[in-house]
Amino acid sequence: MSAEEKVVLTHGIMPLPLGESTRPIPEDAVYGAGYVPGIPRLGIPALRETDASLGVAYVFGLRKDGATALPSGLAQAATWNPALVRKGGEVIGSEAHAKGFNVLLAGGTNLMRDPRNGRTFEYFSEDPLLSGTLVGNAIAGIQSNHIISTIKHFALNGQETGRKFVDVQISDAAARESDLLAFQLGIEIGQPGSVMCAYNRVNGHQACSSDYLLNQVLKRDWRWKGFVMSDWGAVPNLGAALNGLDQQSGAQLDPAVFFGDTLAQAAAKDPAYAKRLDDMNRRILTAIYANGLDRYPARPGGKIDLKANSEAALETAKQGIVLLRNERGVLPLARTARKIVVIGGYADSGVLSGAGSSQVHAEGGAAIKVPLDGGPWSAFLSEQYHGSAPLAAIKAMAPQAEIRFRNGRYPSEAVTAAKDADVVIVFGTKWTTEGIDQPDLTLPNGQDELIAAVAAANPNTVVVLETGNPVLMPWLDKTAAVLEAWYPGARGGEAIASVLFGETNPSGRLPITFPAAMSHLPRPELDGLATLETNFGGDAPSPDAKLTADYNIEGSDVGYRWNARKGHKALFPFGHGLSYTSFSATGLKTDGKQASFTVTNTGQRAGATVAQLYLDSRGGQTKQRLVGFSRVELAPGESRPVSLKIDPRLLADWSGNGWTLPAGNYVFALGDSAERLGPTVSTKLAGRRWSD
Ligand code: BGC
Repeated sequence: MSAEEKVVLTHGIMPLPLGESTRPIPEDAVYGAGYVPGIPRLGIPALRETDASLGVAYVFGLRKDGATALPSGLAQAATWNPALVRKGGEVIGSEAHAKGFNVLLAGGTNLMRDPRNGRTFEYFSEDPLLSGTLVGNAIAGIQSNHIISTIKHFALNGQETGRKFVDVQISDAAARESDLLAFQLGIEIGQPGSVMCAYNRVNGHQACSSDYLLNQVLKRDWRWKGFVMSDWGAVPNLGAALNGLDQQSGAQLDPAVFFGDTLAQAAAKDPAYAKRLDDMNRRILTAIYANGLDRYPARPGGKIDLKANSEAALETAKQGIVLLRNERGVLPLARTARKIVVIGGYADSGVLSGAGSSQVHAEGGAAIKVPLDGGPWSAFLSEQYHGSAPLAAIKAMAPQAEIRFRNGRYPSEAVTAAKDADVVIVFGTKWTTEGIDQPDLTLPNGQDELIAAVAAANPNTVVVLETGNPVLMPWLDKTAAVLEAWYPGARGGEAIASVLFGETNPSGRLPITFPAAMSHLPRPELDGLATLETNFGGDAPSPDAKLTADYNIEGSDVGYRWNARKGHKALFPFGHGLSYTSFSATGLKTDGKQASFTVTNTGQRAGATVAQLYLDSRGGQTKQRLVGFSRVELAPGESRPVSLKIDPRLLADWSGNGWTLPAGNYVFALGDSAERLGPTVSTKLAGRRWSD
């Protein structure tokens, strides 16, 4: 490579005719999030990058072609099914390739340290094992199409408020045992070609210029060989190259194009930059050739069978819906129900989706678009519903029934209809988006009051939630049943009806704690939320503005681990989910390295359960950690032996420069959730230390 060629792959643009860059995009680019030119002389392909984890995203409506919208990350995680998540990755990766993209900006892995985070819907879970396993499988599925997937946003990007300057405080040990472990497991399983570094600061350093995160953890300790690309507008200066950043993305969003001529000049003068520049190229080329981008070129206009692909979205939605509550066996609904009233949530039109860079559009666009109420972001942020209407799917399930719909705008009207019905299905929606955190966990626009009024009017009230994060449920005790359907994707309406009528036996389990009160959160106030103006970009209001988020409060005890440490009881705990049948898990045996037990379907219907193995305590101290899980499908009366391997990192502490497993007594239990554990089994383990 010539000196000029060495800085071709190290920076890219946003290929969109937006703002100042109204020039046409390069001829071989496709409207998308990113474009890095290739080097034709050397046969190196250009990188054409699109968002994101839930399907090929839409880029502000500039591209008009539709794509398969998978259910949200939370919905995918609620399946606890790595093979299905992998299948979803295969599907969206194939669509990216067929649309001419060879990089999918997928793999959102940040742990959910705050349920108010606006991007909670994009991520998987609050647990490193669950998140790491699932994201690794999603990435493997995506990359099976000869494209590169990212894993993002590295690391500790736990809130959107002030995302470009919030400074996360966390100890090395706590980070390695939580968020970094999720990334580490995901990278081991999925081998992503690229890591996208995050907007935020970590212990005073921009994540995209963090020697600790990029050079020490990722490249030295984990021996990872791919390239680090920046998030869009996350590069502070040229020095980021020395701190481990390999590629500057969407460079027109940064203060300057640091990784072009400026980098070439630095490399000509300074051997440290010259060495780094060679390494940057080696890493980018490694990802390109390891994934066969040259041999299987992505060209726009490839064939996509959206109908066939939507089957993966449908199956994911079905397996990801979580039955939270079911009193008196009100669900499944009898297909012979006579009078059903469906209320609210635009259930007559479609199912909700989350917004921001991950927004996917079905062919033909959104069924409903509710714009934000003014403000600078309303032009490109709106509440969008995919056109898979639950009402039509409910009607198809119960063709004999008299089914009425009320939009829920007037509670009195909804109550009148509810009084007269055999069963009421009321939808509660909570739209969330990248760039904006939620002030609290209520359902907006009076929906809590609507649900309370309807449930008071009819004891057979079933609540279906379409939310991007956990919510509080002040009306819970009055309801007969509650389903959490998340953002259920392209065919969400069908999935919801299928679960309501028992065609699908629900098997989803919560990948995140539903807290009982805001005061239970490690940070009851989300840092900066009350003081900063809403700002999608998350920029600092002034150059010297400071904002910190103290993650040392909970350390590595995120979500259910925090509740276990503090003795808080959740509204619905991590791992919780009901079924129309019942299961038992018995005969747990473990030596701390492997575990075996038997699961049995003790009920009358076929169904699936998720066996969850937890460390409960270590050396007499509460230390709850999910250490293994397995989703098992069983016919009525069927039993199946299950064995799990326990990754020792899940039992250990990070101390200094390696893992330490303290000698002592380790107590394990199988659980229906993090709060409902079965009989404990203890085993003594010898102490040991090892490095990554
Ligand atoms: C988001 C990334 C996304 C990128 C490109 C950023 O604002 O944080 O997740 O991949 O934009 O669209």
